[in-house]
Amino acid sequence: MADYRTIVQGLSKAELHIHIEGSLEPEMMFELAQRNRVSLPYDSVEAVRRAYDFTCLQDFLDLYYAGMQVLREEADFHDLADAYFRRAEADNVTHVEYFFDPQAHLERGVPIGTIMEGLMSATRDARERGTGVSLILCFLRHLSERDAFDVLEETADYHSEIVGVGLDSSEKGNPPSKFERVFAAARDQGFRLVAHAGEEGPPEYVWEALDVLGVDRIDHGNRALEDEALIARLRRDRVPLTVCPLSNLKLGVVDSLPAHPLKRMLDHGLLVTVNSDDPAYFGGYINENFERAARALELTETELATLAENSFAAAFGANPA
Ligand code: ADE
Ligand code: ZN
Repeated sequence: MADYRTIVQGLSKAELHIHIEGSLEPEMMFELAQRNRVSLPYDSVEAVRRAYDFTCLQDFLDLYYAGMQVLREEADFHDLADAYFRRAEADNVTHVEYFFDPQAHLERGVPIGTIMEGLMSATRDARERGTGVSLILCFLRHLSERDAFDVLEETADYHSEIVGVGLDSSEKGNPPSKFERVFAAARDQGFRLVAHAGEEGPPEYVWEALDVLGVDRIDHGNRALEDEALIARLRRDRVPLTVCPLSNLKLGVVDSLPAHPLKRMLDHGLLVTVNSDDPAYFGGYINENFERAARALELTETELATLAENSFAAAFGANPA
């Protein structure tokens, strides 16, 4: 068998679980801080990287929201997305469905047009290079359902550019059912639906994402493996799981990569995909996630090909507009 690097590089892939704000590398964070005269609580790029020592999701989220404060102007959102697309293309990613967190910018006073025009110009450039790209608007689950309705309304001019809505941020204590009505409204408006569930939260949150929200995909879903009936349901309905091995390792969702459930998910016949989540914070883009999981779990070339095929089977495809 060829080495994992060569195999993974050779596979065309779709990335379905990437928070665009989580691709903000410390170098760009410093550059944008200077450009926008934002002060950072770090004196070097190395100091930023040293601070990325998380033990749980909330530790990470605190730094993630702090880091994105350097994003102020349309050009910043363009540069952020442009850098990610080029990096993903180098990993042989040919289709991307990326998350963005408008509430985290709107609450800092960044206008919706600044966010969307910046992201869309980089998105159009990537499409012109031949990469398929769709956008997924995420609601921040630590905020209220009313806030989620508000952001859905505030983005109305851009809905034709957005393929789906998702649910991210602090999972524990914020069950999917908190967002039942706004997901129903989003479905009525023609959006595809996804939600982070079972990353830190219990299997019940995965059930709720499926049965209360009616999602098309589950983001993470690790803890679904604690529930046999849930595994059977995910298999029966071919519900995709967008799994992120290096994220899970960095956030303590798994103790080690050999303990990661990716291989068990494949063995259960689940439609599992590999993704990078927040690559600037977790130490690797998509190929690094594939390679390190493959090495730790001794995945076969066939299993790697299945994971890549699954990513296209699970994709929503181009925006409807
Ligand atoms: N926002 C960005 N990354 C996230 C993750 N892994 N879980 C929940 N919310 C997030
Ligand atoms: Zn995520």
